[in-house]
Amino acid sequence: MSLVSGPGRGGSTGGTQELYVQKHVDYIKSLNTRRDELEYWLTEHLRLNGVYWGLTALHLLGHPEALPRDKTIEFVLSCQSEDGGFGAAPGHDAHMLYTVSAVQILVTLDAVDELEKDGRGGKEKVASWIANLQDHSTGTFKGDSWGETDTRFLYGAFNALSLLRLLHLIDTEKAVGYIQSCANFDGGYGVRPGAESHAGQIFTCVGALAIAGRLDLVDTDRLGGWLSERQLENGGLNGRPEKKEDVCYSWWVMSALAMIGRLHWIDGEKLAGFILRCQDPEHGGIADRPDDMVDVFHTVFGLTGLSLLKYPGLKEVDPIYCMPKEATDRALGR
Ligand code: FPP
Ligand code: ZN
Repeated sequence: MSLVSGPGRGGSTGGTQELYVQKHVDYIKSLNTRRDELEYWLTEHLRLNGVYWGLTALHLLGHPEALPRDKTIEFVLSCQSEDGGFGAAPGHDAHMLYTVSAVQILVTLDAVDELEKDGRGGKEKVASWIANLQDHSTGTFKGDSWGETDTRFLYGAFNALSLLRLLHLIDTEKAVGYIQSCANFDGGYGVRPGAESHAGQIFTCVGALAIAGRLDLVDTDRLGGWLSERQLENGGLNGRPEKKEDVCYSWWVMSALAMIGRLHWIDGEKLAGFILRCQDPEHGGIADRPDDMVDVFHTVFGLTGLSLLKYPGLKEVDPIYCMPKEATDRALGR
Protein backbone atom coordinates (compact mmCIF):
# COMPACT_ATOMS: atom_id res chain seq x y z
CA MET A 1 0.00 0.00 0.00
CA SER A 2 1.39 3.40 -0.90
CA LEU A 3 0.73 6.04 1.70
CA VAL A 4 2.71 8.75 -0.03
CA SER A 5 0.58 11.84 -0.53
CA GLY A 6 2.83 14.22 -2.41
CA PRO A 7 5.31 16.96 -1.55
CA GLY A 8 4.93 19.37 1.35
CA ARG A 9 6.13 19.70 4.93
CA GLY A 10 3.80 19.20 7.85
CA GLY A 11 1.37 21.94 8.84
CA SER A 12 -2.32 21.47 9.38
CA THR A 13 -3.33 21.29 5.75
CA GLY A 14 -0.26 20.35 3.70
CA GLY A 15 0.30 16.75 2.63
CA THR A 16 3.20 15.25 4.56
CA GLN A 17 5.06 12.60 2.80
CA GLU A 18 7.65 10.88 4.87
CA LEU A 19 8.26 9.34 8.23
CA TYR A 20 11.27 10.98 9.87
CA VAL A 21 12.73 7.79 11.31
CA GLN A 22 16.15 9.12 12.36
CA LYS A 23 14.67 12.32 13.84
CA HIS A 24 12.28 10.28 15.98
CA VAL A 25 15.18 8.10 17.18
CA ASP A 26 17.17 11.24 18.06
CA TYR A 27 14.16 12.80 19.82
CA ILE A 28 13.63 9.71 22.02
CA LYS A 29 17.32 9.48 22.82
CA SER A 30 17.33 13.14 23.82
CA LEU A 31 14.65 12.51 26.47
CA ASN A 32 17.16 10.50 28.46
CA THR A 33 19.69 13.32 28.54
CA ARG A 34 17.47 16.29 29.43
CA ARG A 35 17.75 15.86 33.20
CA ASP A 36 18.53 19.52 33.74
CA GLU A 37 15.17 20.58 32.34
CA LEU A 38 12.11 21.18 34.47
CA GLU A 39 9.94 19.03 32.22
CA TYR A 40 12.04 15.98 33.10
CA TRP A 41 11.29 16.39 36.81
CA LEU A 42 7.66 17.31 36.26
CA THR A 43 7.12 13.99 34.55
CA GLU A 44 8.83 11.88 37.23
CA HIS A 45 5.47 10.32 38.10
CA LEU A 46 5.41 8.84 34.57
CA ARG A 47 9.02 7.72 34.26
CA LEU A 48 8.62 3.93 33.87
CA ASN A 49 5.69 4.43 31.47
CA GLY A 50 7.91 6.83 29.51
CA VAL A 51 10.64 4.22 29.17
CA TYR A 52 8.07 1.71 27.87
CA TRP A 53 6.72 4.23 25.34
CA GLY A 54 10.21 5.25 24.16
CA LEU A 55 11.56 1.71 23.99
CA THR A 56 8.51 0.44 22.08
CA ALA A 57 8.85 3.31 19.61
CA LEU A 58 12.56 2.58 19.08
CA HIS A 59 11.91 -1.12 18.47
CA LEU A 60 9.19 -0.34 15.93
CA LEU A 61 11.54 2.14 14.23
CA GLY A 62 14.12 -0.65 13.94
CA HIS A 63 16.60 1.00 16.35
CA PRO A 64 16.44 -1.11 19.52
CA GLU A 65 20.06 -0.27 20.32
CA ALA A 66 19.33 3.44 20.78
CA LEU A 67 18.57 2.91 24.50
CA PRO A 68 21.33 0.94 26.27
CA ARG A 69 19.87 -2.48 27.25
CA ASP A 70 21.79 -2.91 30.54
CA LYS A 71 21.01 0.58 31.81
CA THR A 72 17.34 0.17 30.89
CA ILE A 73 17.07 -3.12 32.80
CA GLU A 74 18.92 -1.60 35.75
CA PHE A 75 16.48 1.33 35.84
CA VAL A 76 13.43 -0.97 35.64
CA LEU A 77 14.71 -3.11 38.53
CA SER A 78 15.44 0.01 40.59
CA CYS A 79 11.71 0.85 40.45
CA GLN A 80 10.64 -2.43 42.09
CA SER A 81 9.19 -2.21 45.61
CA GLU A 82 9.69 -4.73 48.41
CA ASP A 83 6.17 -6.03 47.81
CA GLY A 84 6.99 -7.10 44.22
CA GLY A 85 5.16 -4.35 42.28
CA PHE A 86 6.82 -1.46 40.44
CA GLY A 87 6.52 2.30 40.91
CA ALA A 88 7.02 5.11 38.38
CA ALA A 89 10.56 5.82 39.59
CA PRO A 90 12.84 4.55 42.38
CA GLY A 91 11.20 5.01 45.78
CA HIS A 92 7.67 5.52 44.40
CA ASP A 93 4.79 3.30 45.54
CA ALA A 94 3.96 0.34 43.34
CA HIS A 95 1.02 0.69 40.95
CA MET A 96 -0.51 -1.60 38.34
CA LEU A 97 0.24 0.67 35.36
CA TYR A 98 3.97 0.88 36.14
CA THR A 99 4.15 -2.82 36.92
CA VAL A 100 2.68 -3.59 33.49
CA SER A 101 5.22 -1.25 31.86
CA ALA A 102 8.04 -3.00 33.77
CA VAL A 103 6.90 -6.42 32.53
CA GLN A 104 6.47 -5.12 28.96
CA ILE A 105 9.99 -3.63 28.97
CA LEU A 106 11.56 -6.80 30.38
CA VAL A 107 9.69 -8.98 27.87
CA THR A 108 10.69 -6.69 24.97
CA LEU A 109 14.33 -6.94 26.08
CA ASP A 110 14.02 -10.70 26.70
CA ALA A 111 15.12 -10.05 30.29
CA VAL A 112 12.35 -11.53 32.51
CA ASP A 113 15.02 -13.76 34.13
CA GLU A 114 16.56 -10.64 35.66
CA LEU A 115 13.69 -10.78 38.16
CA GLU A 116 15.44 -13.78 39.72
CA LYS A 117 18.49 -11.70 40.71
CA ASP A 118 19.31 -10.38 44.20
CA GLY A 119 16.50 -12.27 45.96
CA ARG A 120 13.75 -10.41 44.05
CA GLY A 121 11.52 -13.46 44.06
CA GLY A 122 11.32 -13.92 40.29
CA LYS A 123 8.32 -13.37 38.04
CA GLU A 124 6.11 -15.21 40.55
CA LYS A 125 6.45 -12.41 43.09
CA VAL A 126 5.47 -9.77 40.54
CA ALA A 127 2.57 -11.91 39.35
CA SER A 128 1.19 -12.48 42.83
CA TRP A 129 1.36 -8.72 43.55
CA ILE A 130 -0.80 -8.21 40.45
CA ALA A 131 -3.16 -11.10 41.24
CA ASN A 132 -3.79 -9.72 44.74
CA LEU A 133 -5.39 -6.64 43.21
CA GLN A 134 -8.33 -8.61 41.84
CA ASP A 135 -11.61 -7.79 43.55
CA HIS A 136 -13.15 -11.19 44.11
CA SER A 137 -16.71 -9.96 44.37
CA THR A 138 -16.77 -8.25 40.93
CA GLY A 139 -13.80 -9.80 39.11
CA THR A 140 -12.21 -6.46 38.19
CA PHE A 141 -8.92 -4.93 39.41
CA LYS A 142 -7.66 -2.02 41.46
CA GLY A 143 -4.54 -0.05 40.49
CA ASP A 144 -3.02 -0.40 43.96
CA SER A 145 -4.13 -1.65 47.32
CA TRP A 146 -6.20 1.44 48.19
CA GLY A 147 -7.19 2.68 44.75
CA GLU A 148 -10.26 2.62 42.55
CA THR A 149 -11.12 -0.04 40.01
CA ASP A 150 -10.89 0.69 36.28
CA THR A 151 -10.87 -1.55 33.20
CA ARG A 152 -7.37 -0.19 32.48
CA PHE A 153 -6.15 -2.15 35.50
CA LEU A 154 -8.06 -5.28 34.50
CA TYR A 155 -6.45 -5.16 31.06
CA GLY A 156 -3.04 -4.47 32.63
CA ALA A 157 -3.34 -7.56 34.80
CA PHE A 158 -4.29 -9.72 31.80
CA ASN A 159 -1.46 -8.23 29.71
CA ALA A 160 1.34 -8.72 32.25
CA LEU A 161 0.20 -12.07 33.67
CA SER A 162 -0.23 -13.61 30.23
CA LEU A 163 3.23 -12.39 29.15
CA LEU A 164 4.66 -13.96 32.33
CA ARG A 165 2.67 -17.13 31.52
CA LEU A 166 0.93 -16.92 34.90
CA LEU A 167 -2.62 -15.95 33.90
CA HIS A 168 -3.97 -18.90 35.86
CA LEU A 169 -3.29 -17.00 39.11
CA ILE A 170 -6.47 -14.95 38.59
CA ASP A 171 -10.15 -15.67 38.04
CA THR A 172 -10.33 -14.82 34.34
CA GLU A 173 -13.92 -15.98 33.98
CA LYS A 174 -15.12 -13.57 36.62
CA ALA A 175 -13.10 -10.76 35.04
CA VAL A 176 -14.64 -11.54 31.64
CA GLY A 177 -18.08 -11.30 33.25
CA TYR A 178 -17.15 -7.84 34.55
CA ILE A 179 -16.10 -6.71 31.05
CA GLN A 180 -19.45 -7.87 29.72
CA SER A 181 -21.16 -5.76 32.35
CA CYS A 182 -19.31 -2.69 30.92
CA ALA A 183 -20.66 -3.31 27.38
CA ASN A 184 -23.02 -0.67 25.97
CA PHE A 185 -25.88 -0.86 23.45
CA ASP A 186 -23.64 0.87 20.85
CA GLY A 187 -21.20 -2.08 20.91
CA GLY A 188 -18.55 -0.19 22.92
CA TYR A 189 -17.37 -0.33 26.52
CA GLY A 190 -16.97 2.23 29.28
CA VAL A 191 -14.71 2.55 32.32
CA ARG A 192 -17.25 0.75 34.51
CA PRO A 193 -20.84 -0.50 34.14
CA GLY A 194 -23.15 2.25 32.86
CA ALA A 195 -20.33 4.56 31.74
CA GLU A 196 -20.36 5.86 28.14
CA SER A 197 -18.29 4.13 25.45
CA HIS A 198 -14.77 5.49 25.16
CA ALA A 199 -12.19 4.25 22.63
CA GLY A 200 -9.46 3.94 25.30
CA GLN A 201 -11.64 1.71 27.47
CA ILE A 202 -12.71 -0.23 24.38
CA PHE A 203 -9.03 -1.06 23.75
CA THR A 204 -8.68 -2.35 27.32
CA CYS A 205 -11.89 -4.43 27.27
CA VAL A 206 -11.37 -5.91 23.81
CA GLY A 207 -7.68 -6.52 24.62
CA ALA A 208 -8.55 -8.42 27.79
CA LEU A 209 -11.20 -10.43 25.93
CA ALA A 210 -8.63 -11.26 23.23
CA ILE A 211 -6.16 -12.48 25.87
CA ALA A 212 -8.92 -14.55 27.51
CA GLY A 213 -9.82 -16.05 24.12
CA ARG A 214 -13.35 -14.60 24.39
CA LEU A 215 -13.63 -12.24 21.39
CA ASP A 216 -16.80 -14.19 20.58
CA LEU A 217 -18.52 -12.00 23.20
CA VAL A 218 -17.93 -8.80 21.18
CA ASP A 219 -20.73 -7.40 19.02
CA THR A 220 -18.26 -7.07 16.17
CA ASP A 221 -20.33 -5.24 13.58
CA ARG A 222 -21.84 -2.78 16.02
CA LEU A 223 -18.48 -2.06 17.67
CA GLY A 224 -16.72 -1.88 14.29
CA GLY A 225 -19.34 0.64 13.13
CA TRP A 226 -18.91 2.80 16.25
CA LEU A 227 -15.11 2.71 15.94
CA SER A 228 -15.12 3.56 12.24
CA GLU A 229 -17.30 6.63 12.98
CA ARG A 230 -14.36 7.97 14.98
CA GLN A 231 -12.62 9.11 11.76
CA LEU A 232 -13.01 12.81 10.98
CA GLU A 233 -12.75 14.68 7.68
CA ASN A 234 -9.05 15.51 8.31
CA GLY A 235 -8.26 11.77 8.58
CA GLY A 236 -7.61 11.77 12.34
CA LEU A 237 -9.59 9.74 14.88
CA ASN A 238 -11.34 10.89 18.04
CA GLY A 239 -12.10 8.84 21.15
CA ARG A 240 -15.81 9.63 21.49
CA PRO A 241 -18.49 11.46 19.47
CA GLU A 242 -18.12 15.27 19.37
CA LYS A 243 -14.45 15.18 20.48
CA LYS A 244 -11.45 16.47 18.57
CA GLU A 245 -9.07 14.20 16.67
CA ASP A 246 -5.96 13.06 18.56
CA VAL A 247 -3.04 10.91 17.38
CA CYS A 248 -3.22 8.57 20.39
CA TYR A 249 -6.65 7.40 19.21
CA SER A 250 -4.92 6.09 16.10
CA TRP A 251 -3.86 3.40 18.56
CA TRP A 252 -6.85 2.97 20.87
CA VAL A 253 -9.33 2.82 17.96
CA MET A 254 -7.24 0.95 15.39
CA SER A 255 -5.93 -1.73 17.77
CA ALA A 256 -9.53 -2.60 18.67
CA LEU A 257 -10.49 -2.67 14.97
CA ALA A 258 -7.49 -4.92 14.30
CA MET A 259 -8.48 -7.32 17.09
CA ILE A 260 -12.00 -7.70 15.67
CA GLY A 261 -10.78 -7.93 12.07
CA ARG A 262 -12.27 -4.60 10.91
CA LEU A 263 -9.16 -2.50 10.29
CA HIS A 264 -10.32 -1.89 6.72
CA TRP A 265 -13.39 0.00 8.04
CA ILE A 266 -11.39 3.22 8.30
CA ASP A 267 -9.51 5.07 5.55
CA GLY A 268 -5.89 4.10 6.27
CA GLU A 269 -4.37 6.47 3.77
CA LYS A 270 -6.14 9.49 5.26
CA LEU A 271 -5.20 8.44 8.79
CA ALA A 272 -1.54 7.92 7.85
CA GLY A 273 -1.51 11.40 6.29
CA PHE A 274 -2.92 12.88 9.53
CA ILE A 275 -0.33 11.11 11.72
CA LEU A 276 2.53 12.20 9.46
CA ARG A 277 1.32 15.82 9.63
CA CYS A 278 1.67 15.64 13.44
CA GLN A 279 5.44 15.04 13.19
CA ASP A 280 7.96 17.71 14.14
CA PRO A 281 10.06 17.61 10.95
CA GLU A 282 12.90 19.48 12.61
CA HIS A 283 13.46 17.84 16.01
CA GLY A 284 11.45 14.63 15.63
CA GLY A 285 8.60 13.34 17.79
CA ILE A 286 4.84 13.30 17.12
CA ALA A 287 2.19 15.57 18.69
CA ASP A 288 -1.51 14.95 19.43
CA ARG A 289 -2.43 17.08 16.42
CA PRO A 290 -0.59 19.14 13.78
CA ASP A 291 1.51 22.05 15.08
CA ASP A 292 1.19 21.07 18.77
CA MET A 293 4.17 20.19 20.99
CA VAL A 294 5.44 16.64 20.56
CA ASP A 295 5.68 14.16 23.45
CA VAL A 296 6.79 10.56 23.77
CA PHE A 297 3.23 9.28 24.47
CA HIS A 298 1.87 10.58 21.15
CA THR A 299 5.09 9.58 19.41
CA VAL A 300 4.66 5.92 20.29
CA PHE A 301 0.94 5.84 19.56
CA GLY A 302 1.45 7.57 16.20
CA LEU A 303 4.04 4.96 15.30
CA THR A 304 1.95 2.02 16.54
CA GLY A 305 -0.96 3.38 14.48
CA LEU A 306 1.25 3.58 11.39
CA SER A 307 2.53 0.07 12.10
CA LEU A 308 -1.03 -1.29 12.13
CA LEU A 309 -1.43 0.42 8.73
CA LYS A 310 1.68 -1.48 7.59
CA TYR A 311 3.50 1.76 6.92
CA PRO A 312 6.78 0.95 5.12
CA GLY A 313 9.88 0.68 7.30
CA LEU A 314 8.14 0.02 10.62
CA LYS A 315 8.20 -3.28 12.50
CA GLU A 316 4.95 -5.04 13.23
CA VAL A 317 3.13 -4.12 16.45
CA ASP A 318 0.99 -6.60 18.38
CA PRO A 319 -2.53 -5.05 18.57
CA ILE A 320 -3.34 -6.85 21.83
CA TYR A 321 -0.18 -5.99 23.78
CA CYS A 322 1.06 -2.75 22.16
CA MET A 323 4.54 -4.20 21.87
CA PRO A 324 6.73 -5.38 18.99
CA LYS A 325 5.10 -8.57 17.69
CA GLU A 326 8.53 -10.21 17.64
CA ALA A 327 8.69 -9.87 21.44
CA THR A 328 5.18 -11.13 22.20
CA ASP A 329 5.65 -14.09 19.83
CA ARG A 330 8.81 -15.03 21.73
CA ALA A 331 7.22 -14.59 25.17
CA LEU A 332 4.11 -16.53 24.28
CA GLY A 333 6.00 -19.29 22.43
CA ARG A 334 4.18 -18.63 19.13
C1 FPP B 1 -7.37 7.39 26.82
O1 FPP B 1 -6.96 8.12 27.90
C2 FPP B 1 -6.88 5.98 26.96
C3 FPP B 1 -7.36 5.04 27.83
C4 FPP B 1 -8.47 5.32 28.77
C5 FPP B 1 -6.77 3.66 27.84
C6 FPP B 1 -5.50 3.61 28.62
C7 FPP B 1 -5.00 2.20 28.79
C8 FPP B 1 -3.99 1.86 29.59
C9 FPP B 1 -3.24 2.88 30.38
C10 FPP B 1 -3.62 0.41 29.73
C11 FPP B 1 -2.22 0.12 29.33
C12 FPP B 1 -1.98 0.49 27.93
C13 FPP B 1 -1.04 -0.08 27.10
C14 FPP B 1 -0.90 0.48 25.72
C15 FPP B 1 -0.19 -1.21 27.46
P1 FPP B 1 -7.07 9.71 28.06
O2 FPP B 1 -6.94 9.98 29.50
O3 FPP B 1 -6.10 10.38 27.13
O4 FPP B 1 -8.57 10.00 27.58
P2 FPP B 1 -9.23 11.36 27.11
O5 FPP B 1 -8.81 11.54 25.66
O6 FPP B 1 -10.71 11.10 27.26
O7 FPP B 1 -8.67 12.42 27.97
ZN1 ZN C 1 -3.88 11.93 23.09
